[in-house]
Amino acid sequence: MRKKIVAGNWKMNNTLDEGLKLASEVVNMVKDERQGDVIVVLGTPFIHLASVSKLIGDTKDVHVSSQDCSEHESGAYTGEVSVSMIKSTGTRYVILGHSERREYHEETSVQLAAKLDRVLSTGLTPIFCCGEPLEVREAGTQDSYVCSQLTESLFHLTKEQMSKVVIAYEPIWAIGTGKTATSEQAQEMHKAIRKHLAIKFGDAIAEDTSILYGGSCKPSNAGELFSQPDIDGGLIGGASLVARDFMGIINAY
Ligand code: PGA
Repeated sequence: MRKKIVAGNWKMNNTLDEGLKLASEVVNMVKDERQGDVIVVLGTPFIHLASVSKLIGDTKDVHVSSQDCSEHESGAYTGEVSVSMIKSTGTRYVILGHSERREYHEETSVQLAAKLDRVLSTGLTPIFCCGEPLEVREAGTQDSYVCSQLTESLFHLTKEQMSKVVIAYEPIWAIGTGKTATSEQAQEMHKAIRKHLAIKFGDAIAEDTSILYGGSCKPSNAGELFSQPDIDGGLIGGASLVARDFMGIINAY
């Protein structure tokens, strides 16, 4: 069964105190108000992971995610954070391949494939991001662009490994711009992603993979996006920084 997931991506926002305040507001709202069976994830900066995990405790209502990880296991990689370090904080998810990391840190598909292997071997759940820039959308070649991203980073996985991966489709032109993809554009791409996964991993795995939409998702448009048959939730940037807005998206199902 495909899981419904709403994951916040705080990016580089919030001091530790601010992050703990936001996390506790979300945890309380989820406890009191959540209507459906949506899995809620908070993607915090590395330095917040341990404290937010502790705050959440064993409630299992909300999970924590990092926004990246190192492709190396351990050693002389100054400034890097390994998956076993991430896991040791109680974190369960790792966002990988966000377009901001691909663009500003020149992350390649090969590097992302290595990061995926690390995350999966540690038993954490990767949220693998893909998505096209505006010029690709304007040229109408978005399907092949996104499918290539998937082929290059995911197609070396076994079926068993792939069954643990969550995908987030985030058109770059919609991230932080207020310009959301229409629900038809998003549905079309999610369907294309699922079809592409089926070629390599078979229909059952493709059907069971959760594919989230990201890019200017907010309470006012989440309901329509989430009502599409191939959209299984969202990866939320700006709106995840305000507990009430994030809760509005969680309850948009
Ligand atoms: P946004 O960001 O919701 O602020 O557009 C989404 C993301 O980058 O994950």
